[in-house]
Amino acid sequence: MIRPTLETERLRLRPFTTADADEVTRLADNEELSRYIPAIPYPYPKYAAAEWISTHQEKFDFGQEIVFAITDKTTRNIIGAIGLVLTPEHKRAEMGYWIGREYWGQRYATEAGQAVIRYAFKTLGLESVIAHHLAPNIASGRVMQKLGMKYEGCRRRFFLHRGEFFDAALYSIIKEEFQG
Ligand SMILES: CC(C)(COP(=O)(O)OP(=O)(O)OC[C@H]1O[C@@H](n2cnc3c(N)ncnc32)[C@H](O)[C@@H]1OP(=O)(O)O)[C@@H](O)C(=O)NCCC(=O)NCCS
Repeated sequence: MIRPTLETERLRLRPFTTADADEVTRLADNEELSRYIPAIPYPYPKYAAAEWISTHQEKFDFGQEIVFAITDKTTRNIIGAIGLVLTPEHKRAEMGYWIGREYWGQRYATEAGQAVIRYAFKTLGLESVIAHHLAPNIASGRVMQKLGMKYEGCRRRFFLHRGEFFDAALYSIIKEEFQG
């Protein structure tokens, strides 16, 4: 199945291809980027990006996960990644994202998140989208708030990351709350 591409004012969210692996490696291999994101080890292993990208088509075809490269519409540079892990039986998805360190603070995560939540509700017909962030990751919590997500509570010692347990904040948005 053909994976979707979404457009926003500044961004094109498109499928990753194997040609993106080197740039993903460069962006992901960053201590600050991976500090609060358990899915990204640091240092980032050399072949991890290619392996990760190689799983995307199958996960999409099986309705398990949709991953988008966040790219600049004009320069075509890769800025980050955003995705939905699907739980179809409950019409729910969990959203995750990262933005390359050099692109932080330009509202890219918020812009990409809006497009992905719209896609989740309008195209996939989901009922809810949830997201977690490690408790100290204030910037990610701010993104969730700006996306209109509601804080549901704290999941205690929910993630083990770099040998340390972190509480996780859980946010969600349900379809009636989505505006736009
Ligand atoms: C979290 C992350 C995605 C944010 O990306 P971004 O494109 O910079 O986000 P935005 O610019 O859309 O919004 C960030 C918001 O957080 C705020 N912020 C940033 N650092 C902050 C801090 N230390 N304390 C309080 N607010 C902070 C910004 O001011 C902005 O809010 P504002 O628009 O109201 O001013 C990015 O920092 C990142 O990729 N981090 C590493 C990976 C990660 O943590 N992913 C999320 C896992 S849950």
